[in-house]
Amino acid sequence: MISAAGCSRPVSAVPLKAENMLHAIDGDVVENAFARDVVRGLSAAVKTLPSRWLYNERGSELFEEITRQDEYYLTRAETSILRERQRDIADFVESGTILVEYGAGAGVKTELLLASLRAPRGYVPIDVADTFLAETSRRIASRFPSLWVRPVEHNFLDLFEIPFGGSGDGRTGFFPGSTMGNLNSSEAKTLLMQMRRHLGGNGRAIIGVDLLKNVDTLLRAYDDSAGVTAAFNLNILERINAELGGDFCLEKFKHVARWNEIEKAVEMHLVSLCDQRVTFYGWTFDFRTSESIHTESSRKYTAESFERLARSGGWKVAELWQDADGLFGMFGLIRC
Ligand code: AVI
Repeated sequence: MISAAGCSRPVSAVPLKAENMLHAIDGDVVENAFARDVVRGLSAAVKTLPSRWLYNERGSELFEEITRQDEYYLTRAETSILRERQRDIADFVESGTILVEYGAGAGVKTELLLASLRAPRGYVPIDVADTFLAETSRRIASRFPSLWVRPVEHNFLDLFEIPFGGSGDGRTGFFPGSTMGNLNSSEAKTLLMQMRRHLGGNGRAIIGVDLLKNVDTLLRAYDDSAGVTAAFNLNILERINAELGGDFCLEKFKHVARWNEIEKAVEMHLVSLCDQRVTFYGWTFDFRTSESIHTESSRKYTAESFERLARSGGWKVAELWQDADGLFGMFGLIRC
């Protein structure tokens, strides 16, 4: 056994070959989806961890705190659009619509939107987290008692059907928060096509997207001075320690926000501050000094680049509402 300086957990000294790891994964030795993604991501030549694993209970709390940081303008800008452009948004959506929200989360923006729509008939929140889903559904149902509320527990990136029953046409998709920016182009296209299928012939969609702007402003939004985004990013290592028996020493990794000019994305990385070895779930991984784990990309769009993405999924942009400073966009989409 060796022990990483500054960390108390014992560390196994037996590195496993990448091909053995992949064989073990394919042979179902690793059944836990989180463990599987972590083993796959850290076995790759360029180490990655999928951003969906950032959101355990602590990660979700930290994300809520990020949205209150001065540097993180996205939530404030989007909320201001929903407040200032209520009338225009209501005009875009047919009266009596059923609102389908992809990745419902806490549903705060939903209340603002529902309050401005004309006689909405139903609300279908879709989320993987059943606790969030139940809480949001209860809150919305009690605030809007005449609304038909039907929660759907699903990862919105999977293919699934929505049981609309006899509730008819006139559906509006809602995907706020710039979560679209966390999807790569193929995931984004798949989701847009799925929305098109769910929302039917007269379907419309309202999508919140962070707009391309100067890189300093973007990087500050993902590296706030209070260190909340750093804590949010490092929490994924804490999660590996807690859930997979890992021995990551958090002090030996640093949160870094980088601009990727080709992808037009802010990337979050965890950079190793020294040569070190980490183990968990029976696997061993070596890190060189300055080697990074890529944990998230947040893509930024212009009106033109988002129009191209929308068209790839069978939609066209009918409306673009922006905040007073032009930081954030809400796109109103109709079918091509
Ligand atoms: C959830 N998502 C839209 C956030 C974003 O801006 O990409 C996640 C986030 N990561 C760091 N700060 C916020």
